[in-house]
Amino acid sequence: MSFTDYFTRRAEFDIFPLEEGDLEAAATLHRHRFAAPWSDGEIHALLTQDTVFGFAARQTSGGFRPSFGGFVLSRAAAGEAEILTIGVDPRFARSGLGWRLMQAVTREALVKGAEAIFLEVDETNEAAIGLYRKLGFSKVGERRAYYQGAGGARTAALVMRLDLR
Ligand SMILES: CC(C)(COP(=O)(O)OP(=O)(O)OC[C@H]1O[C@@H](n2cnc3c(N)ncnc32)[C@H](O)[C@@H]1OP(=O)(O)O)[C@@H](O)C(=O)NCCC(=O)NCCS
Repeated sequence: MSFTDYFTRRAEFDIFPLEEGDLEAAATLHRHRFAAPWSDGEIHALLTQDTVFGFAARQTSGGFRPSFGGFVLSRAAAGEAEILTIGVDPRFARSGLGWRLMQAVTREALVKGAEAIFLEVDETNEAAIGLYRKLGFSKVGERRAYYQGAGGARTAALVMRLDLR
């Protein structure tokens, strides 16, 4: 790698199981990406449940201080899985991290015996809906006036499902 490459190379990421060492970065990211943020303690409390698992995108090249690209948390029980949350650092938006995190969690859900995976998403969240549709999720329900936006306007939650088998 040349000296110039060192500064111009794009960040590369790998996907790893979410660990305790990721929790602070995960909570910081959650705070930036969600109106109702979860603390590292809350994420830790979820992760210690037997049915909950997650993945993190950690930078493996291209920086002095490796970046935390994003994470996903899921729960699998009784033949079904759900996505609890997913977030990607906006600096690395649209570079495939959301897709890769969802692929990892979907594979693991299958290993844990899930036959389908569910999630809820705000009807106005175009990026997330685009990601889920690209993965093959389809809408199976709707919860009206489920989320409240900053201006007070209420929006629906779409319930989406992906069959894994
Ligand atoms: C939703 C989110 C996780 C997507 O992460 P990402 O890493 O940027 O997504 P990817 O690069 O993997 O994109 C995969 C596909 O998703 C869709 N997509 C991603 N961002 C999109 C956008 N802004 N608009 C429309 N479609 C989008 C596209 O189909 C994209 O494929 P393409 O780039 O080949 O067209 C990210 O935007 C995020 O963290 N949002 C804030 C938190 C959030 O809303 N989480 C979901 C709660 S339900």
